Amino acid sequence: MATKRAALKRKDLLGIEPLSVEEIHLILETASSFQEVAARPVKKVPTLRGRTIINLFFEPSTRTRSSFELAGKRLSADILNFTASASSVVKGETLLDTVLNLESMAPSIIVIRHPASGAPHQLAGACKASIVNAGDGMHEHPTQALLDALTVLQKKGSIRGLNVTLVGDLAHSRVARSDVLIFSRLGARVTVCGPPTLIPLEMERLGARVVFDMDEALRGADCIIMLRIQVERQTQAFFPSIREYFRWYGLTEERMHQAAQGAIVMHPGPLNRGVEIASEVADGPYSVILDQVANGIAVRMAVLYLLSAGRG
Ligand code: CP
Repeated sequence: MATKRAALKRKDLLGIEPLSVEEIHLILETASSFQEVAARPVKKVPTLRGRTIINLFFEPSTRTRSSFELAGKRLSADILNFTASASSVVKGETLLDTVLNLESMAPSIIVIRHPASGAPHQLAGACKASIVNAGDGMHEHPTQALLDALTVLQKKGSIRGLNVTLVGDLAHSRVARSDVLIFSRLGARVTVCGPPTLIPLEMERLGARVVFDMDEALRGADCIIMLRIQVERQTQAFFPSIREYFRWYGLTEERMHQAAQGAIVMHPGPLNRGVEIASEVADGPYSVILDQVANGIAVRMAVLYLLSAGRG
């Protein structure tokens, strides 16, 4: 468990883009040290006793919301879970007014998921509390990328020199941006693959190789990250039909033969089974999807701890 008083020298965690390699390593090492808490009969440490954390979710979430809540509780913080649909947001209260009112209740950290890219950045400038981005629009999902990196580190031993391939809807995926940034920064060779309509031009600027053929993208891959088709963010048809999408870009057992020996398969969830991934792969021996979910708690404990430690 984290014993020394390490801290992030920043108030907020808004994305992977602003983080240095040293900061990424600090978060991953701290997360590794928190993992043994999950194996204890009493899964709790007193580290954040007396601190208040507000989880503010303006979009649905299963994994991120639950694991931020559990992470805070395992650190003994007081947790307030705010659901926008059951609040005065439905009466027209603005995001800023909502957050300034909640901030007057003296939280140390506000975790926010919001459909608008940049919403956490706007709040970071207006709030004294630390802001943690739990996913903003199509921009970033930094704690997902950190838990993905921790999972790869634990399964493959290191990240430098690995071939990491992301396949799917990169255009609407905040996970994709954060993953490309973190794996490139940690020395992996990153390939992205999908229909040309779902690969934004900026992927090359972020350091990824762009390939449109799935078999080529999978050749020699050590780690395959499948991305969900984000129907809720798509306003037009980006491919002819789900059946054709699965045929060209769905991950099947047969396609896994292209990957490197010992390759692992990841997915941030929720899965669209039979759309981007076949059930036999999602539930098969290559899959580390549930390890990702378990690692989410340790990563979020590390982020909450390191941001709090930096602020006295
Ligand atoms: N990976 C992820 O963000 O999942 P949720 O939407 O369930 O939080």
